[in-house]
Formats: sequence, structure tokens, C-alpha cells
Amino acid sequence: MFEKFSLNKGKTAMPKHEDTKSISIPNHVAIIMDGNGRWAKKRGLPRIAGHREAMKTIKRVTKEADRLGVKVLTLYAFSTENWKRPKAEVDFLMKLPQQFLNSYLKELIEQNVQVKAMGDLSRLPTYTLSAVNDAIEKTKANSGLILNFALNYGSHAEIVQAVKKIIREAHSPEDISEKMIADHMISPALPDPDLLIRTGGEIRLSNFMLWQLAYTELYFSEEYWPDFNEQSLQDAVRAFSSRQRRFGGLAEGSENP
Ligand code: FPP
Repeated sequence: MFEKFSLNKGKTAMPKHEDTKSISIPNHVAIIMDGNGRWAKKRGLPRIAGHREAMKTIKRVTKEADRLGVKVLTLYAFSTENWKRPKAEVDFLMKLPQQFLNSYLKELIEQNVQVKAMGDLSRLPTYTLSAVNDAIEKTKANSGLILNFALNYGSHAEIVQAVKKIIREAHSPEDISEKMIADHMISPALPDPDLLIRTGGEIRLSNFMLWQLAYTELYFSEEYWPDFNEQSLQDAVRAFSSRQRRFGGLAEGSENP
């Protein structure tokens, strides 16, 4: 399930040949990018300055995840609950995908990154949707890291629409299986996250991928998202690598009572 790769503590983006310790790299890393507002407030800036800075973090974390050998990076960019924020902030957040892609799409293409999006995209403003669709289209033949943006995404909404689809297809209760439910989720056909990172010091999931996170390793960082960097991602991956994943089973060698 995991690819073996290595990295050293205390160094950032080191070349592979300098790495010494072999660690397990999660295939799919999902991130709740929290703390933008507090990052800005700490500096006496408006909240939107934190969101703007967040785009730089997305860029460097995408690069580093790719370098480490992560295959899928899912970023929680806008939740179904974020519409409750003041209109000016929502409007600003809605402009970020377009701004981000205007600045970085060329680089993402050069990096062989494949852009995807999950969520109820129908409610996004046209300019946001066009920018996202354009990036999906232009990167669909790429074979490198999948950069999956969760946009107007909420886990409860996702489960509700899965149930609706299943009922519409008129399955009998006996047909319902875990696989059927998983297959009706709106998230694209991606493996479940192996590692979930939440920045910003809060210890909660905030309606993010609740079905898919059933056996995901959770990692909470005190750092605000704009401060999160290559080293922070390496620390999270190292913590993941030290965990023993049993998926409800027993550790190897502990079968005998
Ligand atoms: C949480 O911080 C962050 C968000 C609700 C928005 C996250 C969006 C981005 C990082 C940019 C998205 C960009 C692209 C390219 C799609 P917060 O505002 O809740 O921070 P706080 O908890 O400190 O107030």
C-alpha cells in the first residue's frame, strides 16, 4: 500500500540522495487548511490576507508532496458550511481558485500534476467553475500527483446525495453494501486518505470526508496554514510512518493470547 521513501529531520526539500531513514509515504494525504484568519489577525491584517497567503502554501505543499511520492493530495478549500461567512469573505474565497490557477496552472502542468475537484460544483460562481474545469481539462492527461480540491464540499451532503442516488436506482435493501455506498459518493474514484492533516490547532473533522476517513491516520498541527511548509509536511509524514495501522485487525505477531 505504501511506497518506501526516505527523508531526514531538520532539512527541507533535501535531494533524495541525502536521505537516510526509510519511511512509509502515504498514498493519499488530505488536508484541512485551517488558521488563515488567525494568521492574518496575528499580523494586524484583514482575514483575506491569510487566505491570499494560503495559496503560496498550497503551491509549496503540492510540490513537496509530489517530491515525497504522495500520489493524491486532497485540499479542503471551501465547505458547504463556509457560505455562512460574511459575503465579502465568501466572494474573496470564491475568487481564489481562479487566482491560484491563473498563477500556477502552467507550473502544475509542467509538474505533470492532474487537477481534480469534488463537491457540489453547481453552486460555484461561473468564473470559479470555468477556472476549475479548465484546469481539470488541461491536466487530465497528466500522470503525476493528483491535486484534488474539495470545493463546496460537505460530508453530510455527500452522504445524502449518495442515499438519494441509491434509492432512485431502486435497489432492494439486501443489495446495499459498503461498496455500493462508497461507489455512490461524489468524491472521484480515489483511494481513501491514508493521512489527514489539520492545521491551525483545532481538533475536529468539520464535516470532511467522514466516510472515507474511517481508518485514516489523523495528524493535528498547531501551525496556521500559511506557516505550514515543506518541513511541516515531512514531520506529518514521519508521524504517519511511525503509526501502526491495523484496520481493526491485530498487529503482526500478536495472534496468540
Ligand atoms: C480556514 O481558515 C480556511 C478556509 C475556510 C479557506 C481555505 C481556502 C484556501 C486555503 C484557499 C483555497 C484556494 C484554492 C486555490 C482553492 P479560517 O479562515 O477558518 O482560519 P481561522 O480559523 O484562523 O479563522
